[in-house]
Amino acid sequence: MSKRYTITAALPYTNGPIHIGHLAGVYVPADIYARYKRLTGKDVAFICGSDEHGVPITIKAKNEGVTPQEIVDRYHKIIKDSFEEFGISFDNYSRTSAKIHHDTASEFFKTLYDKNEFVEEVTEQLYDEEAKQFLADRFVIGTCPKCGNEESYGDQCEKCGTSHNATDLINPKSAITGNTPTLKETKHWFLPLNKHENFLREWILKGHKKDWKPNVYGQVKSWIDDGLRPRAVTRDLDWGIPVPVEGGEGKVLYVWFDAPIGYISSTKEWAEREGKDWEPYWKDEDTKLVHFIGKDNIVFHCIIFPSMLKAEGSYILPDNVPANEFLNLEGNKLSTSKNWAVWLPEYLKDFPGKQDVLRYTLTANAPETKDNDFTWKDFQARNNNELVAIFGNFINRVVVLTNKYYNGIVPTPSTFTAIDEDTLAAVKAYPAVIESSLERYRFREASQELMNLARLGNKYLADEEPWKLVKTDEARTQTIMYVALQIASALATLSEPFLPFTSAKLKQILNVTSSAVEMSWSDISTKDVLLPANHQIGQSELLFNKIEDKDIQIQLDKLEASKKANEAANKKVEPQKDTITFDDFTKLDLRVGTIIEAEKMPKAKKLLVLKVDTGIDVRTIVSGIAESFTAEEVVGKQVTVLVNLAPRALRGVESEGMILMTENAEGDLVFVNPDTTVKNGLQIS
Ligand code: 2FM
Ligand code: ZN
Repeated sequence: MSKRYTITAALPYTNGPIHIGHLAGVYVPADIYARYKRLTGKDVAFICGSDEHGVPITIKAKNEGVTPQEIVDRYHKIIKDSFEEFGISFDNYSRTSAKIHHDTASEFFKTLYDKNEFVEEVTEQLYDEEAKQFLADRFVIGTCPKCGNEESYGDQCEKCGTSHNATDLINPKSAITGNTPTLKETKHWFLPLNKHENFLREWILKGHKKDWKPNVYGQVKSWIDDGLRPRAVTRDLDWGIPVPVEGGEGKVLYVWFDAPIGYISSTKEWAEREGKDWEPYWKDEDTKLVHFIGKDNIVFHCIIFPSMLKAEGSYILPDNVPANEFLNLEGNKLSTSKNWAVWLPEYLKDFPGKQDVLRYTLTANAPETKDNDFTWKDFQARNNNELVAIFGNFINRVVVLTNKYYNGIVPTPSTFTAIDEDTLAAVKAYPAVIESSLERYRFREASQELMNLARLGNKYLADEEPWKLVKTDEARTQTIMYVALQIASALATLSEPFLPFTSAKLKQILNVTSSAVEMSWSDISTKDVLLPANHQIGQSELLFNKIEDKDIQIQLDKLEASKKANEAANKKVEPQKDTITFDDFTKLDLRVGTIIEAEKMPKAKKLLVLKVDTGIDVRTIVSGIAESFTAEEVVGKQVTVLVNLAPRALRGVESEGMILMTENAEGDLVFVNPDTTVKNGLQIS
């Protein structure tokens, strides 16, 4: 078995914060795996960093009218801080704008160049005449030649995952101006993937034998079977790592050439800081290299990067690439632009101290074999019915009773019954059970096994009922509590990869943080005593708290607001109505008025009954705004009133006019009113 592990998690683009899709797909499983490997005594380098080049960043900067550097500085900090607070235990989190990365990527490119591993060619590339710019990657959108998706990017179709050249797109359009691009000649360096086909085929087959996930193996095999073609690894852009060879002036490395090298440079940065040698982590055959990614990154980690590593010649290849499918949110695709997401920094603010609840929910419902849905109701249920009712409840009972009966001192057991023996044997088997799931990258299954151990504890207590026996059988009660404490102790260690904050708290409560009593993963199956008799534990503290409906409603309301905002943004502007004459217009008597009283119309969801001072009189107007405003908040508002509209009765109340309304960007009704306070009764003309 390998001793050394280089575990990488996809470098996130620094064009926005992290959301639950990223966490479920990449960072939570990667962190569980890294923590588990450390607990089993492996030498782990868990590596990540910000992906700061590429078109997504340039587009974001353009949209905001700031420099790409400002964008990456802003989001690098936000992303790094939120990962840290969420307990993602990277050994190093670097960034691709770091000098060490620029140097490493340039060197890598030069090595391949010197080895004649590139094909240098002048070809015609897509060009936007108006923007005066070549169109690569996300700067161009068109129809995918493989699956027909009409919104494929120039370098990759996110629907079928295929990577292609921008010139392969059918009906391409510039993402900058919307124009149809022309073709213009330019020189680039191409990685001849066709040359690596045979090696890739063999390597993938090895992976298949090692039980790679079927989605990963299947996709890669089909791309290879379709035949691979040379791919340009340079771009005519001004944001990125300059091409470090003659003729490369004004060009940069393709972001997907430099980003995976970011794993190497981040490892170097870490090794330098820790006084280690980085090379064994990338070059020793005894090292297992594992890439955690989302399914849209498969082609880059299973075709392009391995071809680069092979071409360079001195690197190991990934042992596994356990790519996940996508996570949806409340039935819809996660979307940054539509703000249809749960953002990590917001979650951390809204649910302080509840990192493990989200980790657990995302793991128990991870999109491992198919796309999955995150719902806030499921989040609440996982917390209330599993973490609180099973895990937390068991620990609380054990700790409270130990304190109550024995002042917190682990009692000495007497003879074990068959049930005790079976229970202790079952506890010993858990590391292997969980390990077997983790070794196959089945994190959902592993998290459920952990919960089963807590279930076992609850069942043991419920069956043995120490709270009844304590009055009649002192010796038996001591034995039961001793066994229950062994289960609690196993939970403290086995939960660490999944629920690191809970594990730390539980270890504190059980007073097992000193090296004398601290346990490793394997101790649980090999040691007969996990928590010795006479060991003093601490007081009980709740590990989890119930999440109330109102907390969930706040989150659902946020999503509802996003939905409304999207609807408003997508709302078609109504076509102009038939022309009217000036005389027609002068028939409308529009005045500024002030709402001086308001009350809800009984039994009418939408209606408020208003008293409006129109400057002419004070009159009653019934307005359909009750779903957007309360009666209290409209009092005092200046509004525009159509005062000569024929009165009509609404639910028995005569309405004498109409208040003009429109919608804001969030799709909420807003008043149309003068931008400063004016005298009531003034005409609008
Ligand atoms: O898809 C993404 O978010 C990319 N930034 C992932 C890069 S992974 C690696 F190769 F750097
Ligand atoms: Zn496609």
